Amino acid sequence: MSESQAGAGGALSEAQIAVHWKEETKIPPPPEFVGQANLTDPGVFERFSLDNFPECFKEYAELLSWDTYWHTMLDTSDAPCWKWFVGGRLNASYNCVDRHLEKYKNKAALIYVPEPEDEAHVAITYRELYVRVNELAALLRDFAGLKKGDRVTLHMPMVPELPVTMLACARLGVIHSEVFGGFSGKSCGERIADSGSRVLITIDGYWRSGTKIDHKGNADIAVETAESLDQTVEKVLVWKRYAGEPLSKTPMVEGRDYFVDDILPDYRGRRVDPVPVAAEDPLFLMYTSGTTGRPKGCQHSTGGYMAYVTGTSKYIEDIHPEDVYWCMADIGWITGHSYIVYGPLALAATSVMYEGVPTYPDAGRAWRIAERLDVNIFHTAPTTIRMLRKAGPDEAKKYNYRFKHMTTVGEPIEPLVWNWYHQVVGKSQAVIVDTWWQTETGGFLCSTTPGLHPMKPGSAGPAVPGIHPVIFDEDGNEIPSGSGIAGNICIRNPWPGAFQTIWGDRERFVETYYAKYCKDPKSKDWRDWPYFAGDGAMLSDDGYYRILGRVDDVINVSGHRLGTKELESAALTVDEVAEAAVVPVADDVKGRAPEMYVSLKPGIAADDQVEKRIVTAIEGMIGKIARPKHVYIVPDMPKTRSGKIMRRVLAAISNTLDVGDVTTLANPDVVEDIRVMVQGEGKVETRKGPEDLERFGQET
Ligand code: WTA
Repeated sequence: MSESQAGAGGALSEAQIAVHWKEETKIPPPPEFVGQANLTDPGVFERFSLDNFPECFKEYAELLSWDTYWHTMLDTSDAPCWKWFVGGRLNASYNCVDRHLEKYKNKAALIYVPEPEDEAHVAITYRELYVRVNELAALLRDFAGLKKGDRVTLHMPMVPELPVTMLACARLGVIHSEVFGGFSGKSCGERIADSGSRVLITIDGYWRSGTKIDHKGNADIAVETAESLDQTVEKVLVWKRYAGEPLSKTPMVEGRDYFVDDILPDYRGRRVDPVPVAAEDPLFLMYTSGTTGRPKGCQHSTGGYMAYVTGTSKYIEDIHPEDVYWCMADIGWITGHSYIVYGPLALAATSVMYEGVPTYPDAGRAWRIAERLDVNIFHTAPTTIRMLRKAGPDEAKKYNYRFKHMTTVGEPIEPLVWNWYHQVVGKSQAVIVDTWWQTETGGFLCSTTPGLHPMKPGSAGPAVPGIHPVIFDEDGNEIPSGSGIAGNICIRNPWPGAFQTIWGDRERFVETYYAKYCKDPKSKDWRDWPYFAGDGAMLSDDGYYRILGRVDDVINVSGHRLGTKELESAALTVDEVAEAAVVPVADDVKGRAPEMYVSLKPGIAADDQVEKRIVTAIEGMIGKIARPKHVYIVPDMPKTRSGKIMRRVLAAISNTLDVGDVTTLANPDVVEDIRVMVQGEGKVETRKGPEDLERFGQET
């Protein structure tokens, strides 16, 4: 089965899923917002219509400074690997730093808020950022031997040294690949090997939920893992969270590990000319999960990506240089790359970074930060909103801040939670954008344009300028708006922010994202290559899209994508385990959480130890974010006669949905045994929806 077809079709096809969802009333944007918004001209949608495609994106490219202007807007000759702004040369670090010095050198580029509340904030001006990026670029070039086109893996948490490192790489044309700090050393090592990095940049430790995390140990595991996959790491550069005594007790390896703080003084005052790279030269890789166990290194370009994130930061996030913008995502994810670092800094904004947990030490923390820094644009994910609401439903009211604009991203948001965000966090004064997009897409795809469209709780809204979505059924027929039927959301046209390929695996790139609805695999015409996003969606008759969740074997946990196969493979490394199946279960805070079912090898009895070993294996191989909510040790897996595990049945049990007809299974009796194990003795009333859970594990 191909990746693009996984989990779709079968007994209940995508198109047959009618959506159990009531239309919400629309809320207009507040006039004070519209009065100051960057984009209020309704003509934008005409300018960005398909008739004006691709030339419309000139408007975005012109937000950047180019060393050489491009000659070809869009080159489709290597379809579907699109090339934007061909002939153009630019440098991302120049665009985010140097070009602001004339007007904004004394303005804060970054304000860093450490998790311990008694530790002072750190404001880094554009001038200071310039100095730090240059000195580090000199070190990376002259000490670590990095040059244009090399890949370097970063495994860093939320510290200001992370954007400094990204920008220093960008200055040299070095492709950075940042691995989320919460991922295990092993995950990091696999990504080092896949990207072919010779250098790893990490940190001794950091704060998380009041605990000092020793992070350096992960580097040793990462290097060892990479080595086992034939990739040698020559140098490990270790930042220090605090000057002086390192936070980590893990010893440094002689001749391999170096504290950046020890070497950096040698580069004091050094300047490195930004290397102008071709628009289509890669800026970074960002790994994400897919249907198979192996993560995909999404390769993003320099010119197209920068143009797209700068344009969407300006028009959808409504960032002006005067704004104090706080995105509470982690830079280790695409949201942080696009909308903490590259987009906001390209617009000379002040971008706030917070190290820790939003509710640490209490439910008021986020609002104290907003009040103190006078944040006026706030950006976070439904999981965090749900967490903040649960921890302190009225807490925000105690603080004196004023948001003009708020974003929700990464998961579907329930109207109830949306309304709390609007009324309590936003004090009914802020405009909200619900932005739907993906690691692969570089920037927003669907969202209201905040100065132009009313908001609709629970709906991402129409597409952003220049994006033309379509919903297809399994057979490639368009599902019309207002039909109340869900299908697979696709994008008809290329856009500059789209990733270029999967690092080292073009075939998987084409197969996963373009093969499903491609009209002619030989075609060089972009019209024949709709982009398959892997999400179920529905279009209302007002042209607003509602995103329903993944249609593949990916579970969106707190906005983080986890491949079920990755968790299953980790569980199978435990000796006692014969078979493993992971399903998503609805969770009040995280949206979805993984639940695991395992069967043991013959003759092995279930005990707590097995469960513990499974959890440890998952945490060690992936990271704590992948920890299953429950591990059920079952006598046998429900299987088809051909021996396939019926994940659909397990998902139905986990979510108290109707298990459907199981009489054709090889072992129908086990279904009731498992149901009792999970739901208890009495008969439990089943429910309808949510759509992604009803659809999960449909066999083709
Ligand atoms: C989901 C995060 C509903 C979707 C930027 C997508 C959303 C996946 C939304 C990408 C939203 C993202 N409403 N669902 N506003 N935004 N998603 O790659 O399933 O970490 O495919 O990128 O998150 O997750 P990723």
